[in-house]
Amino acid sequence: MSQGIAERARLLREQINHHNYRYYVLDNPEIPDAEYDRLYRELEALEAAHPQLVTPDSPTRRVGGKPLESFAPVAHRVPMLSIHTETDIEASGALNFDARVRRELKLKDSDPPIEYACELKFDGLAINLRYEQGVLALAATRGDGETGEDVTQNVRTIRCIPLRLDTPSPPPVLEVRGEVFIPRPDFERYNEKQRESGGTPLVNPRNGAAGSIRQLDPAIAAQRPLSFYAYGIGETAGWETPASHSGLLDALRELGLPVSGERAVVQGPQGLAAFHDDIGRRRDSLPFDIDGVVYKVNSLALQAKLGFVSREPRWAVAHKFPPEEELTVVEAIEVQVGRTGALTPVARLKPVFVGGVTVSNATLHNQDEIDRLDVREGDSVVVRRAGDVIPEVVAVVKDRRPQPEPARFQILQRYPACPVCGSHVMRQPGEAAIRCSGGLYCPAQRKQALLHFASRRAMDIEGLGEKLVDQLVDLGLVRTPAELYKLGVAKVANLERMAEKSAANLLAAIEKSKRTTLARFIFALGIRNVGETTAKDLARHFGSLDALLAADADTLMQVPDVGPVVAESIAQFFAEPHNREVVEQLRAGGVSWPETAPQRKPLGALAGKTFVLTGTLPNMTRDEAKDRIEAAGGKVAGSVSKKTDYLVAGAEAGSKLLKAQELGIAILDEEALLGLLRPEAQGKLDF
Ligand code: IVH
Repeated sequence: MSQGIAERARLLREQINHHNYRYYVLDNPEIPDAEYDRLYRELEALEAAHPQLVTPDSPTRRVGGKPLESFAPVAHRVPMLSIHTETDIEASGALNFDARVRRELKLKDSDPPIEYACELKFDGLAINLRYEQGVLALAATRGDGETGEDVTQNVRTIRCIPLRLDTPSPPPVLEVRGEVFIPRPDFERYNEKQRESGGTPLVNPRNGAAGSIRQLDPAIAAQRPLSFYAYGIGETAGWETPASHSGLLDALRELGLPVSGERAVVQGPQGLAAFHDDIGRRRDSLPFDIDGVVYKVNSLALQAKLGFVSREPRWAVAHKFPPEEELTVVEAIEVQVGRTGALTPVARLKPVFVGGVTVSNATLHNQDEIDRLDVREGDSVVVRRAGDVIPEVVAVVKDRRPQPEPARFQILQRYPACPVCGSHVMRQPGEAAIRCSGGLYCPAQRKQALLHFASRRAMDIEGLGEKLVDQLVDLGLVRTPAELYKLGVAKVANLERMAEKSAANLLAAIEKSKRTTLARFIFALGIRNVGETTAKDLARHFGSLDALLAADADTLMQVPDVGPVVAESIAQFFAEPHNREVVEQLRAGGVSWPETAPQRKPLGALAGKTFVLTGTLPNMTRDEAKDRIEAAGGKVAGSVSKKTDYLVAGAEAGSKLLKAQELGIAILDEEALLGLLRPEAQGKLDF
């Protein structure tokens, strides 16, 4: 082996370590990933051809070790202590600490303020990194503070931790202490991937970090997105220790160790409180979890003078924020019916203090979210409340699930009817929400229904706005739109801020609204997916309410622009007896409109025909083709079935084409489709 090859390997190691540092520590890469990969592969190849070139600090050696039987104990030469914690939310945490320090140092009020180094309290796992002659020789957990566990193999996989210190003259011994953690975006990304591949997601970043470091197989740790920040030192030999804590962190950074930029040197307790508040405000926008801030007397000489009490330094304190995540138990899953009729599942929790408040409910959003989390009644769960965001269940601790296992939670099974009004509930295809269909009748939807009913483009009841609706409903005067027409002066005049004159005006407006149009009336019913335009189309097509009430979903689909989803909404709405009752009461109460003859638009050339599109057409986009087919009255479906009349196939048509051929369905190219769409073709088709 020539000298040149050894030199090349050394140079590659140096370059790769440098780029690792730029990428993982500074988050500021100089070269594209592909270039990095090229360097890495070149070094790998060199080392494979010349194994004697491999050094323990080679970047290719981050994962190499075999799974362990158990972790070896490591005695800490300098004990790993913990810090005293102040949990109060107010600034008094800072004041108390400063007062204690001044008392211990026997300072007078007239003495100048003490200088402090402020930093973040990272929420992960404490680690001691021992560098000997500049090379990472040993990494150990804190353990009981005296003895930890040798987790070197796992720690070597953490890319931002240098395997060799960046200095030509390393100290014989330098122990660096800090926290291993998982950044939140990396945590979310990792869990997303796990879910997609059917793996087990991590419960939260802190458990994830601690659990990863305690894996016996380093290959597992290597897959976890672990990160590290240094915040102190342990044993040193032959290292010129800086005079201050902030200087010490600067020096560690110079050596290539990751040190968080979120730190400050401040004077006195006001400086501490300002740092606490600033970080508290920005806590949720930091890319990792913290559970507080740490204040340290900056001068190492003063630190030595202050010393320790019962395994805690007198010169440092952690000032905690309220926790944002806690463990609790789901006592039950219930649903709430919203103003729009959506049934939202809610986890009733054993009360827990999180995010600064006691939380006893957390939304589960919808059935999809319940399925994604696989949350069941009785489960232990992690609840998160960050900032002002509503509390959420973020994970289930599966190994704490009660035995025998509770059943999977299905909203539709538990609530086949609306828990508020008893109307039937449904989930429309493509929609996440399960809804109560009793829109006109359901007390949960009352206010919304009345407001919509009275709105300008619906029944146009002037003056009936939010405040009045609130009062009418809250006082129990009106339960359904039909009851608006039974209101008398006596009742209305009793409402707040309602003089006799305005009461008369309101009643007149209600009276006036009785004469309306069928389109307005249909729109006013607030049927899901039925806007003003659809309401007009329905009115024109059917001409009378009775014809509309008699229509089933198939008949409804004959109305131009009414597809399966809208048709289903309408059919479901009128299938609910409660809604029909209200409609009848409205008619009986005097609401009326001029009846007209049904005006059916002439059927398009392709009416009643179902098309499926596949492949790329030469001149039309799929959307264009779809629009033109629909404009001619045809329907476009997503998949080929026996009901398909035509398959329009372009270039690179795949499985749909095969299926259509199997079923003997007519296959058209673009030209043939255009032929069908031409006006002269109308009427000539054999329908
Ligand atoms: S200093 C002698 N600084 O909090 C002082 N600790 O109870 C030693 N921690 O287990 C700790 N961020 O894991 C220090 N900026 C920080 C920290 C920090 C998080 C953890 C550490 C330790 C615990 C202290």
